[in-house]
Amino acid sequence: MKFLLSLSVLCLLACTTPKPKKMTVKNHSFSNYAEVKLKHLSLHLKVDFSKKELWGSATLQIENTAGASHIILDHKTLKVDHVAVTDANGKIKEVSFEIGPDDTVLGAALIIPIEKNTREVSVAYHTTPESEALQWLSPEQTHDKKNPFLFSQSQAILARTWIPLQDCPAVRFTYDASIEVPPHLMAMMSAENPTSKNAEGKYTFKQTKPIPSYLMALAVGDVEFTTLGRNSGVYAEPGMLKKSVWELADMQSMIDSAEALYGPYAWGRYDVLVLPPSFPFGGMENPVLTFATPTIIAGDRSLVSLVAHELAHSWSGNLVTNETWSDFWLNEGFTVYFEQRIMEKIYGRDYAEMLAEIGRGELQHTLDDFMQTTPDETKLFLNLDGRNPDDGVTDIAYEKGRFFLRRIEEVVGRPAWDAFLNDYFKTHAFQTMNTTRFIAYLNEKLLNKHPGQIDLNAWIYGTGLPKDAPVVKSKELQRVETDIVTYTKSRNPADIHTKDYSTHHWLHLLRGLPALSVEEMAALDKAFTFTGIGNAEIACDWYTLSVKNGYETAYPDMAVFLKSVGRRKFLLPIYKNLVKTAKGKALAEQIFSEARKGYHAVASGSIEEIIANANPK
Ligand code: BES
Ligand code: ZN
Repeated sequence: MKFLLSLSVLCLLACTTPKPKKMTVKNHSFSNYAEVKLKHLSLHLKVDFSKKELWGSATLQIENTAGASHIILDHKTLKVDHVAVTDANGKIKEVSFEIGPDDTVLGAALIIPIEKNTREVSVAYHTTPESEALQWLSPEQTHDKKNPFLFSQSQAILARTWIPLQDCPAVRFTYDASIEVPPHLMAMMSAENPTSKNAEGKYTFKQTKPIPSYLMALAVGDVEFTTLGRNSGVYAEPGMLKKSVWELADMQSMIDSAEALYGPYAWGRYDVLVLPPSFPFGGMENPVLTFATPTIIAGDRSLVSLVAHELAHSWSGNLVTNETWSDFWLNEGFTVYFEQRIMEKIYGRDYAEMLAEIGRGELQHTLDDFMQTTPDETKLFLNLDGRNPDDGVTDIAYEKGRFFLRRIEEVVGRPAWDAFLNDYFKTHAFQTMNTTRFIAYLNEKLLNKHPGQIDLNAWIYGTGLPKDAPVVKSKELQRVETDIVTYTKSRNPADIHTKDYSTHHWLHLLRGLPALSVEEMAALDKAFTFTGIGNAEIACDWYTLSVKNGYETAYPDMAVFLKSVGRRKFLLPIYKNLVKTAKGKALAEQIFSEARKGYHAVASGSIEEIIANANPK
């Protein structure tokens, strides 16, 4: 009887629950941001390391000028406890909300009824251990091994896994936050930050400049701060701080150079947080506080161009923002170009050209891969509707984008190009830009004086690399190429003159070597001690080469590397090459099964795909 009753109740529920609506998705977001706009976000969160969850509330100040009956927010793997709305008179009422169908990439719509005079929507919620943006590290996974650590990575569409909001780069909002953490830890955000811990573990933040959701960021850990210059400094775990300060000594001069190039820095302070090794990217341009991988702390300042890159995003990306993820090249292409200009200004043309040639090599590699299989992926403008925006994160956006802008510089000359860029950043500050509007602006302000000189269509909507692509020839790397020619004939490591080699000379060498026998690999290893090397850039290239040439002596150290570093760029090439053979795939699976608990979701997700799509010979 009881059973029958509950069955009928179930049926009743099922019959009265409205069928989930087919949600419209625009710009990778369910939100109806064209009708209702998020203007300001207030976050109140407690950080619970034992449950691995954030809990509290997000209050969204909105503008409902169109008089919409609902606001639709993005959310994914969040548990919504209740929702309240506040009207213009300050009257608060709890409302019932609906959740749309779940999509594995986009998450689900959170549909909240509002009225024309609704001013605020407040969502009480908590995150879950599945929230992909967040990585909760145990003390063993940190540098100092004493305290837990938490960090977020919101770009591209993961902000919705820790905050319910309009998760799309076309929406900008200001925010304030109060974050409560265990008392011995410090909280930091993409806003002005504390420089020391407080006994209560309570921190407040204000970001008064409007930012898109992918720049929302939070980190919590045992970190300390050191000033570098007028408006710059470094945060790191205590055991990493001194090395980080030494490595990043030129940061203030990078800021000053960037301002001299393209106008005032808009964000007040510029600090860098050096994260534990599992950070899945090299760097992330969170406003005011760039997040960086510890793999740039190489001990010789050879990898600081990464900071120039993230700093450059303070203009290209954070000030002028790609409107959709299909316009991602506008963020990254501009930034790689700008990064090179900063490097040139501080370290000179030869050094900057060396970096550019390394980038050109990486672009060629990516082009060769794609042109054989999926040439459409080599277009600067990628239509990513219906796809994961992460699919667009390739060297095409970065390097083809950079060489396109460099081509414009070649045609119009540096003074006119720099004047254009200054104007571009000033005119579109705190706004979004898309590819079509950029082309119109570029033609109107610059290229109409140089008719027919650049085929914009070929560069932006065409595959491959146009014939007029700038040629880079670095004197420094020429030295390495001469040695490679001699070595290829002699196979004698002594023919490679490695005195004064920097990281980039080594990379150029490893990338230019012919196919080698196991014995030849062993001889190189003996001469230059690659296996076990601490420099992660060189380690990644050496282990990739070891897999390609079957040099198994390096595998134990390669496994240690794969288990200790979580930067996706270093993991993917090694795993990709391993899965090409059945034996290598078995090893990849074994290493991954142990290493994955240390990886951030965006890294483990990519490796899962590599293993799943493997077609070993
Ligand atoms: N904004 C990117 C990182 C990113 C892009 C994260 C897309 C998620 C989705 C950042 O500025 C970046 O480009 N980082 C590079 C370093 C750079 C020197 C090329 C990286 O992490 O390797
Ligand atoms: Zn970037």
